[in-house]
Amino acid sequence: MRKPMIAGNWKLNKTIAEACELSSDLSKCLANFEGVDIVIAPVFTTLTAVAETIKNTPIKLAAQNCYPEETGAFTGEVSPLMLKDAGCEYVIIGHSERRQLMDETDTFINQKMIKALETGLKPILCIGETLQERENDQMLDILAAQIKGGLDNLSVEQMADVVIAYEPVWAIGTGKTASDEQAQEAHSFIRGLLQGMFTQEVAFATRILYGGSVKPSNVDGLMAMDDIDGALVGGASLKAEDFIRLVRFEKV
Ligand code: PGA
Repeated sequence: MRKPMIAGNWKLNKTIAEACELSSDLSKCLANFEGVDIVIAPVFTTLTAVAETIKNTPIKLAAQNCYPEETGAFTGEVSPLMLKDAGCEYVIIGHSERRQLMDETDTFINQKMIKALETGLKPILCIGETLQERENDQMLDILAAQIKGGLDNLSVEQMADVVIAYEPVWAIGTGKTASDEQAQEAHSFIRGLLQGMFTQEVAFATRILYGGSVKPSNVDGLMAMDDIDGALVGGASLKAEDFIRLVRFEKV
């Protein structure tokens, strides 16, 4: 069975003091929590300080991005090696905000996936269609292109460390969630793509998270869907009370 994962993407929020306050609150409340992989992705500058506050708890650290080189003349970038050194186990790759604001392509995203895996970081690959793409009936083509491009040249063994996050762009930060059924349809399609690209075992074992305005009031319904294995959460991950409720989702 796939272990559920609830991951908080803090985006560009919180100073070191604020980040440590939130991670300490989460640590206290989730110290002995089992059965769900709990991941938080704070801003780069806060990673080492946050890592200290979650020591000896089940909470895992993620970065929000990485550059596909280990070291060198890449001013302003952060490598998977440095992220591991700072205490990260996971890294978010290909978030739609980076695809849109920084023009990240599937080829570049694939380079990051490969470098992260080579370094021993577990990537959370984000994919998802825009509203216009959905309305133009391009959703399935877009998801297929992003999955094929993002996972190109990865081995079956490497796929054991990969998590996918389906995040329809129109649902991110807008308060509009995909319905449980819309999300399930996309997740099941993605699982089919994994089967075609890798094996049936990979398709069955890979966790696919849903992201886009997940909150305490809709998490239970989403988590009840067969192919939804967790959530990647922005806004609702910034308040301890809300994030803890998401981690403690109830199977309905
Ligand atoms: P949101 O963001 O939960 O605020 O919609 C999700 C994300 O961008 O990962």
